[in-house]
Amino acid sequence: MASGVTVAFGGFKALTDITLTITPGAVHGLIGPNGAGKTTMVNVLTGFQAPTSGRVLLGDRSVGDLPAHQIRRAGVARTFQAGRLFSGLDVLDNLAITGVGLGHSRHASELEALRVLDWMGVRDLAERPAAGLPYTDERRVGIARALMFSPRFLLLDEPAAGMSEAEADDLARLIRRVADELGTGVLLIEHNVGLVLSVTSHVYVLDAGQLIEEGDRARISSSQKVHDAYFGVEQGAA
Ligand SMILES: Nc1ncnc2c1ncn2[C@@H]1O[C@H](COP(=O)(O)OP(=O)(O)O)[C@@H](O)[C@H]1O
Ligand SMILES: [Mg+2]
Repeated sequence: MASGVTVAFGGFKALTDITLTITPGAVHGLIGPNGAGKTTMVNVLTGFQAPTSGRVLLGDRSVGDLPAHQIRRAGVARTFQAGRLFSGLDVLDNLAITGVGLGHSRHASELEALRVLDWMGVRDLAERPAAGLPYTDERRVGIARALMFSPRFLLLDEPAAGMSEAEADDLARLIRRVADELGTGVLLIEHNVGLVLSVTSHVYVLDAGQLIEEGDRARISSSQKVHDAYFGVEQGAA
């Protein structure tokens, strides 16, 4: 999906020459310490940030120049680290708005919203005001919104942040269902490395904008580079 992507903010490179692929029906992890460039990568893949160089591909179509709403229409959905729900609306309307934005009728969008909430087992949230939702439900609604009209790819930006262990386990099961039952390709950005390793088949590791490692669970768990990135190596005054 991303090929040789570099993003520079002024003289600072948030990402350097990153190549990363998301396969339909599989869950991939994207991990790395704070500031590694994970959210920037999601922003590039979803049209919220244009790459300074490199290509973003959907199949063999180049989508690096498309605005976010067109990339969503092309089937790439995301969640945000902070919920970003419309606080004045109830959950059903929050979801329906996405459907309307995708070009569906109001009625079809409401039906789809109910279908998605049902599929996730949270239909009881439909009439709740978004503003009063507990944190974990707000997260679930963010995912439900991203699942409207079955995207081909789903990018989750730290969806388990602030969740209890039991809630994170539920989330892990949901993520597996998204890949297994819907055939969606998932990219899971997560601080909780245990969660990532429990649900993903292939993990990418960013550190300071560089892809320092990638591979399966065994490779990531035993990687000295990954260990050093997380636990620090002596770098003088750096
Ligand atoms: N719009 C921006 N302008 C300048 N610097 C940015 C911008 N967005 C992110 N950065 C910087 O890029 C680096 C990577 O940020 P980010 O992708 O949010 O990291 P992560 O999600 O891995 O914590 C950080 O140093 C951050 O301060
Ligand atoms: Mg981030």
